[in-house]
Amino acid sequence: MRQEFDYEREREPNEAMSASSPQMFNVQIDGIWHQFPKGTRVIEACAQAGSYVPRYCYHKKLSSPGNCRMCLIEMGMPKMGPDRKPDLGADGKPVINWMVRPQISCAQDVAEGMGVRTNSPLVKECQRGVMEFLLINHPLDCPICDQAGECRLQEFSVEYGTAESRFLEHKVKKPKNVELGPRVTLDDERCILCSRCVRFCQEIAQDDVLGFVDRGSHTILTAHPGKRLENNYSLNTVDICPVGALTSTDFRFKMRVWFLKETKSICTSCATGCNTIIGTREDVIYRQTPRENDAVNSCWMCDYGRLNFDYVQSERRLLEPRIFHDGKLIPADWKTAITHAALQLKHFSGWEIAIIASGRMTNEELWLTAQLIRTLAVPWFDIVPRTGPDDDILLSEDRNPNTNGARLLGLATEPGAKIPAIIEAISSGQVKALLVLGENPVRFGVSIQQLSNLPAFIVMDILANEATEHATALLPSFAFAEKRGSMINGKGRLQRLNRAVRAPGQARDDWEILRDLSQALAATNGIYAIEDVFRQMSEAVPEFAGLSLSKIGDLGVQVIQVNESPAPPLERAANDIEKAESKKPPGRSP
Ligand code: SF4
Ligand code: SF4
Ligand code: FES
Repeated sequence: MRQEFDYEREREPNEAMSASSPQMFNVQIDGIWHQFPKGTRVIEACAQAGSYVPRYCYHKKLSSPGNCRMCLIEMGMPKMGPDRKPDLGADGKPVINWMVRPQISCAQDVAEGMGVRTNSPLVKECQRGVMEFLLINHPLDCPICDQAGECRLQEFSVEYGTAESRFLEHKVKKPKNVELGPRVTLDDERCILCSRCVRFCQEIAQDDVLGFVDRGSHTILTAHPGKRLENNYSLNTVDICPVGALTSTDFRFKMRVWFLKETKSICTSCATGCNTIIGTREDVIYRQTPRENDAVNSCWMCDYGRLNFDYVQSERRLLEPRIFHDGKLIPADWKTAITHAALQLKHFSGWEIAIIASGRMTNEELWLTAQLIRTLAVPWFDIVPRTGPDDDILLSEDRNPNTNGARLLGLATEPGAKIPAIIEAISSGQVKALLVLGENPVRFGVSIQQLSNLPAFIVMDILANEATEHATALLPSFAFAEKRGSMINGKGRLQRLNRAVRAPGQARDDWEILRDLSQALAATNGIYAIEDVFRQMSEAVPEFAGLSLSKIGDLGVQVIQVNESPAPPLERAANDIEKAESKKPPGRSP
C-alpha cells in the first residue's frame, strides 16, 4: 500500500485513526516510501513492497534465529539534527543515515523513517558470498535429489549466487540416508543448518527431538539420543526444509515434482479439515501437502491425514454396479442398478427402511440423502460416529470431516444415537431394507447374518468389505479426491473439496447416484450439476444463503459459530411420518 510521504503529518496524532488501528510507520524500501503497521518484520515489509528478500532460516510461523544470513540488506535510520528532528533532504523527505554493515531483515521490525536497500551492490555481494559458503560442502547431487524442482538452494543459487566456486579442498562427508523416524529420511550433506526443522519440532509439534551436534563444517542435524522424529507432525519438517535434506520416506523417488498436477482441496480424515494441495499424475495421488489457511490449519497438517490416501488406489475399489440376482451378485449397468435399488425401497414402508449415512459425505450428498429420507418417510436414519484421540495441535477427536454438515442438514443430532435402536429394529425384523452410504455396517454392530437375512441391503461405497458381498444392490462411488463438494469443519467453516483424479472403473459421483435414486423413487427432476444441489441448499438452509460452491473460495467461509447447535429439521419431520403401507420386496425373501 504505497502512499505519498508526509513525514510531519505522520508524526502528528492522526485524529481519524481509531484507537484500535495499528500504528503505521513510514519505511523507505529501495528508494520508495511505504507505510506498514507497527510490528511488521522488515523481510515481510520488503515482500509486501515487491522487493522479495531471499531467506532460508526465516519462516513466518516460527521464531527467527537469524542464522543463515541469506536475508542481508542495507539498513538505515533518519539522520537527526541538533533539534532531535530528522534532517530533511531537498525533496522534503528524511535523509537516511545508512549503517556501514549489512543487517539481517528477518529478525527485526520496521521503525519510523527506516530505510532499506534490498538490491544494492553490497547486498548482492553479500548474497553471492552466503550462497558460496552454503554450497561449499553441498554434494551438488540435484539430479538424484527429491527436492529438485522446489529447492530454494537451486533457485537462489541461480538467482543470487555465482556460477563458480573457489573451493578447492575436499568436501566434508556427512551421514546420508539417515532414518530420522518412520516417515522422514535425512541427508545431512544437503542440510544448510537453518534450524527450521528443529524449531518446528520445539514450537509447533511440542516434541523437542532434533538438534545440532559437532562444530563448524562438521555440524550435523540429528535426533537427540534415544529419540526419533516420529511425532504426528513430522512430515511438516519435510515441507519447510528449504533444501533436500529432509525427505518424505513415502514420497521420495516416486515422482519428480514438476510432473505433479496440484489441486487445492481439504483433508477429510478428521473434523479439522486442514487445507491441502493434492499432488497427482495420471490419476494417481502421490502426495498431499498442507495449504496455508490461518482460520484452519496455519501452514501445517498431521501425518495421519497427509498419508491417508492409499485406499483411493486400493485393489479393493468397487469398479462396477452389481445387483443380487439368482442367488448371486452380478454386474449390471447403472440404469439397471438404480432401478433395482429403487424398486426394492419402494416395496417397503418408511418404518421398514433404515438409512445409515456417513459423516464423510459432502453437504450435497447429505442434502440428497435427506431428500431420500423425506421421500421414503424413513424414521430410522443416522450417521456413524468416528472418534480417536485428539491432540492440542490440529488433530480432532471427531474423525468425521463433516459431522457439522450432517447436523445442519438434519441427518443426525447426536451422531450414532439412533444406531442401537436401528440394529435392534433390524434384529427384530421390523427393518427390512437397509441403505448404507459410505459405511460398513459390520463395524457399527450389524452382523453378517443379519445383513444376509435382509430382503433389501443397498450399499453405496468405494471399497469391497465383508458386508458388500451380501448387498442386494452395490453402487460404487467416488473417494474424496475424485469428487467436488463442500463440508463444514468442526469449527463451523464451510470448505470445498476439489476433484484431483478421475475415479476408476464405472464408479460414479455419490451425489449423482443419490439424485438418480431420488428421481427413480419420486420422479423429481431439475438437478443436472452439483451446483444445482448447492443452490437448493442455499435456498433452504439459512447458513448457506447467498453462497455457491465458487463463492466458498479456496479458504472457506465461516457459517456456524462453534457452540451453536444447528436445528435438526429431519428430526422434527421424522416425528410426523405416517406409517406407509407394507409391500412385498422384489429382492430375496426374508
Ligand atoms: S534439515 Fe533442512 S530444515 Fe533442518 S536444519 Fe537442515 S536445512 Fe534446515
Ligand atoms: S489434523 Fe485432521 S484434517 Fe488436518 S491433516 Fe490431520 S487428519 Fe487431516
Ligand atoms: S532468513 Fe534471515 S538470517 Fe536466515
